[in-house]
Amino acid sequence: MAFAPLHTARLVLRPFTEADAEDFAARRSDPETAMYQAWRVPYSVEKALELIRESARHEGPMPGHWYQLDVQRLADDRTVGDVAVYLHDHGHTAEIGYTLHTWARRKGYATEAAAALIDHLVDVTGVHRIEAATHPDNRRSIQVLERLGFVAEGVKREAFWVEDEVSDDAIFGLLARDWTANRAALGL
Ligand SMILES: CC(C)(COP(=O)(O)OP(=O)(O)OC[C@H]1O[C@@H](n2cnc3c(N)ncnc32)[C@H](O)[C@@H]1OP(=O)(O)O)[C@@H](O)C(=O)NCCC(=O)NCCS
Repeated sequence: MAFAPLHTARLVLRPFTEADAEDFAARRSDPETAMYQAWRVPYSVEKALELIRESARHEGPMPGHWYQLDVQRLADDRTVGDVAVYLHDHGHTAEIGYTLHTWARRKGYATEAAAALIDHLVDVTGVHRIEAATHPDNRRSIQVLERLGFVAEGVKREAFWVEDEVSDDAIFGLLARDWTANRAALGL
């Protein structure tokens, strides 16, 4: 069954289509956006198409794969960014990521979209734990995780490679039971 889009107050998270490739490539080609990420700029439309086609092979989060969703603003149908989820092989742990266009930042979209994804992962996929890894200097990303109730669990030293450059990797975790218990109090 096709993945049913996830709705929030201002956004819809839906599967990518090939028509999104240009916008996706443009978003990833911004040097500031790519600063702490695993890709190099410029990010080509061909690469975007490859990733979209790989994601489209699945109808939702699947163990051992990344699944990518486009995040669109309901008010004008404009894509503000994307979220992604990797389900670990046993299916109990999900890793998430998120990226916004530069013009779509500081409006709460990343936190809102990630909250909808976590709801889905906890309520539908049934994961036990959600985690995220980020560059320790990626303050904006860490703030998103903190707003969602993730706990800083430590820093893996020199664990994140982008080609021949290595950096530390800060690990954040959220247990499904804590999300369920605290979600209402987060005010999201
Ligand atoms: C990480 C990233 C998604 C964070 O984006 P962001 O805009 O800072 O995060 P949010 O969308 O959750 O917005 C939160 C901000 O919107 C503000 N905001 C404005 N209107 C709001 C509203 N109606 N509701 C909620 N928050 C609102 C919040 O106060 C907060 O601003 P503050 O940090 O100054 O207090 C963005 O910096 C990005 O795309 N970076 C590049 C990719 C990346 O590093 N991804 C992370 C990979 S680990």
